Amino acid sequence: MIQKLNLANLPTKIVKAGRLSKEWGVNLYIKRDDQTGSEISGNKIRKLEYLLKEAVENNYDTVITTGGIQSNHCRATAAAATMLGMKSELLLRISEPPKTEGNFFLDKLFGSNIHYCTPEEYRNSRDEIMKSMAEKMNARGRKCYIIPEGASNALGSLGYYAAMEEISAQEKEMGVHFDTIVVAVGSGGTYSGLCTANKELALGKRIIGFAVCDDSEYFTARIDKINREAAEITGLKSEMSPSDIEINDKYVGIGYALSRPEELEFIAEVASKEALVLDPVYTGKAMYGLYNEIKEGNVPQGASVLFIHTGGLFGLFPKQEQFVF
Ligand SMILES: Cc1ncc(COP(=O)(O)O)c(C=O)c1O
Repeated sequence: MIQKLNLANLPTKIVKAGRLSKEWGVNLYIKRDDQTGSEISGNKIRKLEYLLKEAVENNYDTVITTGGIQSNHCRATAAAATMLGMKSELLLRISEPPKTEGNFFLDKLFGSNIHYCTPEEYRNSRDEIMKSMAEKMNARGRKCYIIPEGASNALGSLGYYAAMEEISAQEKEMGVHFDTIVVAVGSGGTYSGLCTANKELALGKRIIGFAVCDDSEYFTARIDKINREAAEITGLKSEMSPSDIEINDKYVGIGYALSRPEELEFIAEVASKEALVLDPVYTGKAMYGLYNEIKEGNVPQGASVLFIHTGGLFGLFPKQEQFVF
């Protein structure tokens, strides 16, 4: 078994959203991965527990990673690195001078050293830039561990393989069976772990990943690659294939981290009915997608649906002025 650190509050609770279930005609449950912690909250910490174990075991003193200016992953990495007594160096994508707010504010509070890149540099050469940052720092005596965007590699995806085992155990305890699992997809590692466990453990669940950027072809290829690499490091029996992956790209909207008024209205409606706070970049789009797919009959009435709340709360505050009440 591959070892990990214990940084997250696990297992996370599963709660029924009773009022939305009644209105939408399904049994809607929420897995509260937004409550894996406060500073480290969200889905990323499950992946980081594996990657940072490798970093700690091998005496790395610095973690380098990358994401958008409001990256939840970068914030969780910065917090976890500080908890472990390591330095963090963040390569953040910006198109204009950033405001010190939300996740970016927390990055600074946790003492991260910030580096910037343009959207083009991010798209074409973020891994090369991180490599060159590491080379420069290593030459000055540091020992740098590079974590890819979203911690979405084979090792990181094991965090959501384990989460699927956790869900299976909770189904038994609760006496429920989730036929459908729903999650937001930003870099693919979360979906990959869930889908690999689903196949290997023969759970037979439908797992719908709602893309928040790019399209289903892009994510299917990316997730398939992570699935195959994860199968290799863990020696899985089952052969993974693109047909194991269901990505819905109909709700990306006007683009990554950009919100349409109807998405923000939906977030406000869910919060006012269930006191469940979704974020505008990931979980808000994914649940808006789920709601519409139920309306269109693509998720059948009466289905038992588990929505994984992957966090992102700090990304809501920089958007608060866009909400109309
Ligand atoms: C709050 C939140 N939800 C979902 C995701 C998507 O997870 P993944 O990057 O593993 O696809 C991310 C990160 O990208 C996130 O920050």
